[in-house]
Amino acid sequence: MTKDIDWKQLGFHYTETDYIVRAECHDGIWGPIHATKDKHISLHLSATCLQYGQEAFEGLKAFRGADGRVRIFRMEENARRMARSAEGLCMTAVPEDIFCSCIELALQKNMDWVPPYETGATLYFRPLLIGTTPRLGVGPGHDFLFAVIPSPIGPYYPSGFEHATPFVVNRHVDRAAPLGTGQFKVGGNYAASFRATEAAHAQGMSCLFLDPTERHYIDECGAANFFGILNGRYVTPASSSILPSITNNSLMQLARDHGLIVEQRPIKLEELSAMSECGACGTAAVISPISRVIDPDNGHVYEFGDRPGPVSTMLYHALQDIQYGRAADSYGWCKVV
Ligand SMILES: Cc1ncc(COP(=O)(O)O)c(C=O)c1O
Repeated sequence: MTKDIDWKQLGFHYTETDYIVRAECHDGIWGPIHATKDKHISLHLSATCLQYGQEAFEGLKAFRGADGRVRIFRMEENARRMARSAEGLCMTAVPEDIFCSCIELALQKNMDWVPPYETGATLYFRPLLIGTTPRLGVGPGHDFLFAVIPSPIGPYYPSGFEHATPFVVNRHVDRAAPLGTGQFKVGGNYAASFRATEAAHAQGMSCLFLDPTERHYIDECGAANFFGILNGRYVTPASSSILPSITNNSLMQLARDHGLIVEQRPIKLEELSAMSECGACGTAAVISPISRVIDPDNGHVYEFGDRPGPVSTMLYHALQDIQYGRAADSYGWCKVV
């Protein structure tokens, strides 16, 4: 049974489900995992997550497939990325088995919140790791709370995968430093990017971040990775300040499987002129095709058209077919629960 909800109207907003899952760590020792209906915590105001931003998070989805079974996509990769984020902020990493058990328990306890097949909606999980040690002296704590917060989310494209979106180049705000925390999924990166992303949204566009050293190379598309199709090759930035996207990693594999050469290297902004199509990729949308990139500093506009290109369309469907169980999962990316 699934909840009686108008799934298509959900959007990418938080909807409270029955249970969240929690586990605590003190001095490196993880306590028991438990599911609870209580979505609130009692936290000391001097906790390191509040004082010094010692927090990391993740995002992943469960899909109800064509066969009625529920699949979680590449959960172990999220566990590994969160462990790297934790190490990046001197936090105790959540062991992979605890991370995956928490996700699976969160799914089992909220099974009727997994949207029906063909609504385009999914059950999204937001794993969160926060430092809870009270301290005023600047430094990391040694107590942590890990929680998995599920929420059903609506289809990213209520009317289908057909609307490309415009991006505006930003040279005024860096979301992360060259050797900073950009490669980690930590709250501070997002707070640091709000000034730029909100300014872009106010103009009806999304924000294209450039590399923070020279501001010549493409870094991130808002909170998503960039890829382009250049002379029939799949190109995507290599940079120390971008988050290694699990979607991008999957698309690179599928691109290779479809005979494309994949290049992961620094990509100059001007290379956009030679690209036949490009997009932003991430868990939320899989691929958001890019219609145009506007460079406000010189007035240049790189045009790609308002509809997704053929390679983006092929890759989008190839990945969704695996996530919804319509195609063979040759790489074992899905965990059926
Ligand atoms: C900054 C940033 N880049 C890229 C991505 C895409 O990563 P993934 O495909 O793992 O969702 C995300 C979303 O998690 C993100 O926040």
